[in-house]
Amino acid sequence: MRLDKLLANMGLGSRKDVKKLLKKGGVAVNGETVSDGKSHVDPENEEVTVYGEQIEYKEFIYIMMNKPQGVLSATEDATDQTVIDLLEPEDMIYDPFPVGRLDKDTIGLMLLTNDGKLAHQLTSPKKKVTKLYVATIDQPLTDEKISQLESGVTLDDGYETKPATVEVIDGGDGVKIRLGITEGKFHQVKRMFEAVGRKVKFLKRETIGELRLDEELEPGTYRELTDEELMMLRGE
Ligand code: URA
Repeated sequence: MRLDKLLANMGLGSRKDVKKLLKKGGVAVNGETVSDGKSHVDPENEEVTVYGEQIEYKEFIYIMMNKPQGVLSATEDATDQTVIDLLEPEDMIYDPFPVGRLDKDTIGLMLLTNDGKLAHQLTSPKKKVTKLYVATIDQPLTDEKISQLESGVTLDDGYETKPATVEVIDGGDGVKIRLGITEGKFHQVKRMFEAVGRKVKFLKRETIGELRLDEELEPGTYRELTDEELMMLRGE
């Protein structure tokens, strides 16, 4: 790729800033100063340094965030804070975007990446990737309602949901439910509970496929995926 593009992508400023940096002789490829931004480099195999500091090049970024309440799963918004606003500049430069949506008041696992292919694989209805949610609802479910949710319910717009898994996880009052779905319709979990006469008071996503939220992450914080997590997500 072009050297100036690589430097700009790695957050060393605009194309104009990068041109100045090159002109000043601050950039070297394999130890040789290079001042022509048009020259080509192979970032995987050649060593690029800026004032002697090696530039770590990577094409893709994969971030696990514990999305907090009150933040939108969007890339930008005129009024509300978005998950992208929570990123450090050094991560933002990769232009990641949220994979799928969580409502403003939902917390939990949010994946952010700039890898469009993986994002498509995880969100395509054909791939049937299971997502687990923990919902606190207003009243316990009867066995009949559990069976209805498991086999599929009719949403307010007439859509018939695909089979789901239901687990009552709070033995005491029966209002904490783990629901597993393979679809991602708008407000799906809330509307599924509404279809059986229940209201969701609190919602958290725990998993996307094999990827599980790291419970060490406080809401609003994030980290990059480990190689192992990435391989699991890719089904490798
Ligand atoms: N279903 C919902 O209703 N809300 C979410 O945020 C995610 C799934």
